Amino acid sequence: MAIYIVLLGPPGAGKGTQAKIISEKMDLAHISSGDLFRENLKAQTELGKLAQVYMNRGELVPDDVTIAMVQARLQRPDCKAGALLDGFPRTPAQAEALSEMLAKNHESVTAVPYISVPAEVLIERLGGRWSCRAQGHVYHEKYNPPKTRGICDIDGSELYQREDDKAETVEKRIRVYFDQTAPLIDYYRQKNLLMEIDGTKSIEEVAGEIVSFLEKVV
Ligand code: AP5
Repeated sequence: MAIYIVLLGPPGAGKGTQAKIISEKMDLAHISSGDLFRENLKAQTELGKLAQVYMNRGELVPDDVTIAMVQARLQRPDCKAGALLDGFPRTPAQAEALSEMLAKNHESVTAVPYISVPAEVLIERLGGRWSCRAQGHVYHEKYNPPKTRGICDIDGSELYQREDDKAETVEKRIRVYFDQTAPLIDYYRQKNLLMEIDGTKSIEEVAGEIVSFLEKVV
């Protein structure tokens, strides 16, 4: 049976940071819908250009294009054993679509670690975030600084601040999260798949709690 983990949490909760650690540890494909949109943007595809409009406004990209993009990604060979989904699903319609696409192969979502972090911490985290151009490795100027300022420790590429991490866009993204994505907490809780993790702890502690939750259910 393939393993499908949905990492849930607000913008800046640490989904990307944890997804890199957990997917490596569990040898699962890491699928970040935000990274897929950014790759499309870099390649200047029609999807990338469309997504950019919504991303820069701090809004969600429409469900139909997002679902189609993730569905295509899940069909790639590296997802044979399953995947760790980071940033998808983000609306009830996306959650239903995921459940339907997995059900076609007699699969289902295995577990949903929900990284919970209060809004004021999110704003500080996103304001200090630096991401690497080559592979999206994530740093924080205070909590997880690179060894050399502006350079990724792992691949040596340039670090940059995301366009949508500007203060006014961050506030909008957090509002959009509470309106459109937070209902998924109850959706997955009712399915007995959810475990709330205190995301204010250190990166290592959060990873440890997610791993011990997953060891119980996988
Ligand atoms: P996306 O790229 O998914 O952004 P997000 O969900 O807003 O999440 P972030 O990447 O901002 O944060 P994160 O939780 O991954 O935190 P990170 O690990 O970086 O989406 C961007 C946009 O794309 C959306 O706004 C939307 O427009 C579109 N989109 C994407 N998916 C979509 C979908 N399914 N449907 C429709 N539209 C979609 O950590 C943040 C910072 O905190 C870093 O600096 C990190 O070093 C630091 N940090 C992490 N953990 C800790 C810790 N424990 N202690 C201290 N610092 C920490």
